Amino acid sequence: MFRTLRDEIDGIMARDPAARSRFEVALNYPSFHVLLFHRTAQWFWRRRMFLLGRWISQWGRFWTGIEIHPGARIGKRLFIDHGMGVVIGETAEIGDDVTLYHDVTLGGTSPSVDSDAQRNVKRHPTLEDGVIVGSGAQVLGPITVGANARVGANAVVVRDVQPNVTVTGIPAKAVMPKDKRTVKKFVAYGTTGDLSDPMVPAIEALRSQVNALTERIEELEAERDGREEPPAAKSA
Ligand SMILES: CC(C)(COP(=O)(O)OP(=O)(O)OC[C@H]1O[C@@H](n2cnc3c(N)ncnc32)[C@H](O)[C@@H]1OP(=O)(O)O)[C@@H](O)C(=O)NCCC(=O)NCCS
Repeated sequence: MFRTLRDEIDGIMARDPAARSRFEVALNYPSFHVLLFHRTAQWFWRRRMFLLGRWISQWGRFWTGIEIHPGARIGKRLFIDHGMGVVIGETAEIGDDVTLYHDVTLGGTSPSVDSDAQRNVKRHPTLEDGVIVGSGAQVLGPITVGANARVGANAVVVRDVQPNVTVTGIPAKAVMPKDKRTVKKFVAYGTTGDLSDPMVPAIEALRSQVNALTERIEELEAERDGREEPPAAKSA
């Protein structure tokens, strides 16, 4: 169990540059706290102690601002950055290493259920491994967001998203096909990760100017040396 907890904490540290120590994460991160509530609530839920499961889940919501239904299936190292306002529905499924920002909903679109048979029907989305969902995004219905896909901030996703694709807008559409993706590992906020040093192009420009000036000086020196050639050398 301690190895699992350490794994969860390390997953948060790997994705939040602001996290400085495991102790800080354990003490201050709602993402870590809500998973403790969720695992406990789910334990009761799976043993058909539904009321107790919901009650513990609501305490988790009170403490963190994150509402996870005890029936939701959550993989390893889920990171919910900032947390407040996140809602994860009963039949939602989340793979490993998924990142959600604040105000994300993994919700249903179907009306309320009126029988146990309907209750078990999948109504909420599935997020495969490595998905990043930007702040305020709403992912609605029994759809699948493919592995490593990215959902832009404030998007409303109502259709399946292919793996490695970025979608934005309302309704969400692909803005970046998978063959254009350059991100191979997690980058905070889901950006493409063009993190090259902005000083490099400036230094390159200066270097080419210095080269041009050096060449011009050599030309001028050659001209001057030609003019200053001694008369004896000229007559020869
Ligand atoms: C969608 C996202 C992942 C794309 O990042 P990116 O790979 O760096 O892509 P770019 O910024 O180059 O944007 C690509 C295109 O999508 C548009 N776009 C980016 N994010 C958008 C969004 N949330 N909604 C609508 N359009 C968006 C850009 O304007 C650009 O359009 P263009 O090609 O017409 O110019 C990123 O913009 C995003 O929304 N990340 C979530 C960040 C977040 O939630 N932060 C909270 C931190 S607390």
